[in-house]
Amino acid sequence: MAQILNGNAIAKDVKDELIVKIQKWVAEGHRPPSLKCIIVGDDPASHTYVRNKVTAAKYCGIDAETIRLDSDITEEFLLHKINELNNSNEVDGILIQLPVPDTMDERKICNAVSPKKDVDGFHIINVGQLCLDMPTIVPATALGVVELLKRAKIETHGRDAVVIGRSKNVGMPIAMMLHTDKRHESGLGMDATVTICHRHTPRAKLENYCRNADIIISATGIPNLIKADMVKPGATVVDVGITRITNAEGKNKLVGDVDYEEVVKVAGAITPVPGGVGPMTVAMLMQNTFQAAKMLRDKTTVLQ
Ligand code: GUN
Repeated sequence: MAQILNGNAIAKDVKDELIVKIQKWVAEGHRPPSLKCIIVGDDPASHTYVRNKVTAAKYCGIDAETIRLDSDITEEFLLHKINELNNSNEVDGILIQLPVPDTMDERKICNAVSPKKDVDGFHIINVGQLCLDMPTIVPATALGVVELLKRAKIETHGRDAVVIGRSKNVGMPIAMMLHTDKRHESGLGMDATVTICHRHTPRAKLENYCRNADIIISATGIPNLIKADMVKPGATVVDVGITRITNAEGKNKLVGDVDYEEVVKVAGAITPVPGGVGPMTVAMLMQNTFQAAKMLRDKTTVLQ
């Protein structure tokens, strides 16, 4: 049976380490880091995610506030709100929970957040810096996957990795860090050989890429995409997918992309859903918020 990569436990370690760092920071005379989470509309799943983030922030000693806005606000109103937070010295991190309503341009919203306060790492400048191996704020889910692999001591150097899913917020930054030269400036490189698969990768090829991989990272939101016969014995399988389904008994359930019950018998290490990557995302968001607070204090910027 595979080693279970317990995201809940590892995320707790990350947050507990952060508590100590933040307590020291506050003891040095700084105000606690401050995070503002904006949520537009009333999507229940988004509200749950934001609630989890605010709870984690408070656990870590970060001041966190949710700003709830109606779904019928204009894009201009939201941009004005973001600008207010950008200009406030009392705010270190700003997060706009996605998706925003269809009436808004998501890219424009992400680029409106000051790159120094962009704890999601979605601003064009932070994305660009990540792609250039520069120190930056990295999207929390991607950072969570990397931290999980590091803390579980999964070797990546010279290994073959497959990333399934090419979203700019998840698949792309994971693939970026996995293939990057560890000696480069960001320090986040993992020196793997990476194949990126997506919806246009033929099924037979996807299966082949997976079977040859030492590390499979699936971020598609397609339940049961990864079957046991696609996994090399001993490979590491990281499941980033989260889909809500109603099971045969009519109960709501969260499932990942991986046929967990079968793959756990073949893999060397595997993340469960829930309790794998999800909690790591939240923990790394807290780390990003503290990083943003330190940058604001030092008047440094991730920009060179
Ligand atoms: N919606 C789904 N995932 C995320 C995330 O990581 N950040 C934000 N802001 N919204 C999301």
